[in-house]
Amino acid sequence: MTVHLVGSGPGDPDLLTVRAARLLRNAEVVVHDRLAEPVLALASPTAARFDVGKHRGDSAYQAEINTLLIELGRTGLEVVRLKGGDPFVFGRGGEEALALSAAGVDWQVVPGVSSAISAPAAAGIPVTHRGVADAVTIVTGHRSKGHRTDWEALAATGATLVVLMGASERAEIARRLVAGGLAPSTPVAAVHDATLPTQRTVHTTLDGLADTSLASPVTLVIGPVAALDLTMTGTMTTVGA
Ligand SMILES: C[S@@+](CC[C@H](N)C(=O)[O-])C[C@H]1O[C@@H](n2cnc3c(N)ncnc32)[C@H](O)[C@@H]1O
Repeated sequence: MTVHLVGSGPGDPDLLTVRAARLLRNAEVVVHDRLAEPVLALASPTAARFDVGKHRGDSAYQAEINTLLIELGRTGLEVVRLKGGDPFVFGRGGEEALALSAAGVDWQVVPGVSSAISAPAAAGIPVTHRGVADAVTIVTGHRSKGHRTDWEALAATGATLVVLMGASERAEIARRLVAGGLAPSTPVAAVHDATLPTQRTVHTTLDGLADTSLASPVTLVIGPVAALDLTMTGTMTTVGA
């Protein structure tokens, strides 16, 4: 009775880990998020599926998911909890693991390729680059009680900022980063639907971010590396190509 908390990567099924693909093929039950849908075709057609990705990620709904995972774990069936990217990067995988442990249900995490790194890479952006960026910070743009991001302090670090769930707060994020000392001309790249055939990248600046229209899911890259697009060098094949 082990519940596998499995990362599905950013979208392209080729970016699943070998272990994730094997577990998915053998699963009798798959509990999945919306962002994990592109890889569902790899699950057995006879596997029972629970789509838990249609609602807002509030705590009450998360508690229902935790209960579902505990109940399914106790059946002894092969259960895969499939989550976009990596389960432990803004995926609430940690909360699910704690709930399973508290209920005495075994669990195992299968790391996935996080969009935090792969979305920039798919757009030809290295999040660190010698002489340009020595550090990278992954941060949520989602504003809720649990998140109190000090954007002004982040501005002072000089690190590349990779912002997940940042679309709706982008005006405020840009304003506070400029207040913290970043130049309004600081490059920003917004990568939508990374690694999928619908992938699109918009290049702008902190100054222009508020007026840039963005569709979800989108990963924002902020800093000098965001001006790069190594796919334009003619020697790189983009992820998924
Ligand atoms: C709830 S977080 C989950 C992150 C996930 N656990 C991971 O490691 O990628 C969802 C956010 O990830 C980013 N994201 C996920 N898939 C993406 C994709 N294919 N392209 C761009 N951004 C993506 C977006 O910022 C989205 O709002």
